[in-house]
Amino acid sequence: MNRFLFNLEEVLYSLFIINLSMPKITEQGVTLNIASIKKDPHKKMPIFYNPVMKSNRNISILLLNSISNTKMHVALPLTGSGIRALRFLRELKKGKIDTIFVNDKKADFVNTFTQALTTNNLKKTNSVKICNDDANHFLLNQHTDDFCGYFDYIDIDPFGTPNPFLSASVSQVKRNGILAITATDTAALTGTYPRSTKRKYWATSLKSYMMHETGLRTLIRKVQLQGIQFDKALTPILSYHKDHYFRIYFKQESGKERCDEIIKQHKYMLYCPSCLNHTTSHFNKETCSCGTQFLFIGPLWIGKLFDTKLITTMAKNNPFPEEQKFLDVLKEESKKDIVGFYDLHVIEKKYKFPIGKMDSVLKKLKAVRTHFSLTGIKTNINIKEIIRLLK
Ligand SMILES: C[S@@+](CC[C@H](N)C(=O)[O-])C[C@H]1O[C@@H](n2cnc3c(N)ncnc32)[C@H](O)[C@@H]1O
Ligand SMILES: [Zn+2]
Repeated sequence: MNRFLFNLEEVLYSLFIINLSMPKITEQGVTLNIASIKKDPHKKMPIFYNPVMKSNRNISILLLNSISNTKMHVALPLTGSGIRALRFLRELKKGKIDTIFVNDKKADFVNTFTQALTTNNLKKTNSVKICNDDANHFLLNQHTDDFCGYFDYIDIDPFGTPNPFLSASVSQVKRNGILAITATDTAALTGTYPRSTKRKYWATSLKSYMMHETGLRTLIRKVQLQGIQFDKALTPILSYHKDHYFRIYFKQESGKERCDEIIKQHKYMLYCPSCLNHTTSHFNKETCSCGTQFLFIGPLWIGKLFDTKLITTMAKNNPFPEEQKFLDVLKEESKKDIVGFYDLHVIEKKYKFPIGKMDSVLKKLKAVRTHFSLTGIKTNINIKEIIRLLK
């Protein structure tokens, strides 16, 4: 029955019957020729559009407008409805795009994207290339003489894991280019399915209050390993967890030395469930100073998540009011860009004493907030000292 209803929905969409009677989707001045959705977006939608990802798109526009790269070859191998591409064409500063390549394997993609350009009064010039291919084939088909990569910006925004597209996108991103990766398979990275983490991300996961940070860092390392095999060093310039997804922007710099630097920053995170101490190590079998055997997560990326200058510029020049609070927290967090955090609720429960207001705690512990948790703080002070200062 469900399958029948779904087929009917697909037929109605393709005949544009639904379109005629229902309000269309608009986002930041861009109109899509599809009816607004009542239920959660899903993989089998005839044209995929997810309103929750508006923030993801806002931040990609802000980031590209905040870096100096111009005349870019931009690739959207998994374009979906085309909303990100249409917004790039309208909202990226003049001179940013040399050519934008949009690709999706959906059968009617060329038609729907061409129509979307017309609907939004955008011209189909030579700087817009519309492709209807498998994403990897599309990426690898753009040739360069030196095999150093063709694109200055690649945006991988899949359903679930980005794994199937990593090798091709990493190999096709140019020196000083940006690789943007979204992953929505958060359960596989945050300890719900540890065997899945092993298979897909070559690491051990743990469900703890820090699972979103450790999941993000595990994903970063996985992408970096893909780059290192091509002597491409991928350094995160902005990484975060939001809603149901992880998002990372890497800058690509070539060279064996840079790759060696990256590898040195792949370590285990050690976490003590008895006293809440955490640290990093090349080894995964160590004992906490309280006598308990550490639990371990990783290997994962222990380097920086943010380029402080970039996030400061982004927070300052942000044109999207709904993102301001989030960007301000990222900016604050970038000033103490260290591995792991403490959660005030977890400390309170474990040590059984009331902790005061967030603002006074931040002052006492020379700490900053973290976007990973509303009650989380980042500080260089260790747990013993934290308890002494807060009691
Ligand atoms: C999550 S949607 C993309 C959303 C889009 N980036 C946005 O901002 O709205 C994923 C898209 O990838 C397409 N897709 C999935 N696997 C693909 C593949 N192997 N090659 C090309 N397109 C693919 C699907 O048809 C779908 O439209
Ligand atoms: Zn301990």
